[in-house]
Amino acid sequence: MRNLTEANLTDAVLARLARTENRRFKAVMESLIRHLHAFIRDVELSEAEWAAAINFLTATGQKCDADRQEFILLSDVLGVSMLVDAINHRGGDGATESTVLGPFYIEGAPDLPAGFDISHGGPGEPTEVSGRVLTGDGKPIEGAVLDVWQTAPNGFYSTQDPNQDRFNLRGRFRTDDKGEYFFRTIKPTSYPVPTDGPVGVILNAMGRHPMRPAHLHFIVTAPGYERLTTHLFVEGDPYLGSDVVFGVKSSLVVDFKRKPGGKTLEAKYDFGLKRAT
Ligand code: BEZ
Ligand code: FE
Repeated sequence: MRNLTEANLTDAVLARLARTENRRFKAVMESLIRHLHAFIRDVELSEAEWAAAINFLTATGQKCDADRQEFILLSDVLGVSMLVDAINHRGGDGATESTVLGPFYIEGAPDLPAGFDISHGGPGEPTEVSGRVLTGDGKPIEGAVLDVWQTAPNGFYSTQDPNQDRFNLRGRFRTDDKGEYFFRTIKPTSYPVPTDGPVGVILNAMGRHPMRPAHLHFIVTAPGYERLTTHLFVEGDPYLGSDVVFGVKSSLVVDFKRKPGGKTLEAKYDFGLKRAT
């Protein structure tokens, strides 16, 4: 095909998919090409804007390394991660709602006994977190594993902060025969996502703040059940209504209540797991 024009270029590109063997890949590429071309027509992209977009994506890739994933952060702040999550975890059946994994999970956190303090007595408001892991119809699951991680009061995860041990404020806990778990930590604080890269530049250009409301991260697993990736958010946090990555769900917001007569807080939550299909 020659003499391609604004009017027929999209069809010409789509026609080149004719010999794509994988049907799913072909369907995804067709949709991607259609939407990308429609977007460029819609905004009538200038050549300078095209060059700026190429430079932005290049800088995003260059910011990535083993501990920093700027593309995931970009997906998060554009709401793409939560849209993928929503499509893939439609919920119901007593299962706890899921939310973003985020870029700060690391494998290999230590297996810890019930009641262990993952802050190791570090600064922050002492908090006890407990509850059960249940089936969709409310039966306890013994031996479920809760992989937990959170920031220190300075707003940094251990992997972002050379002054913290690698597994500070991280740990894996197991439910007992009543499906119960229990650990000690500190109350999480709200914190900004990293803004020293290209994602920070576009957040700023959009006039958006970079804050996430305070939360604890969980990955809950048990044999025969779907993996649950979620958070518990702190009731009353000022950023619950404007999370920079759109991850808040009302069902995941928990009261961190002061225990009678003490300075310790407690947060209670029962997780529901969906049977694997
Ligand atoms: C987090 O909660 O760790 C997180 C999620 C998305 C982007 C940045 C951080
Ligand atoms: Fe987080």
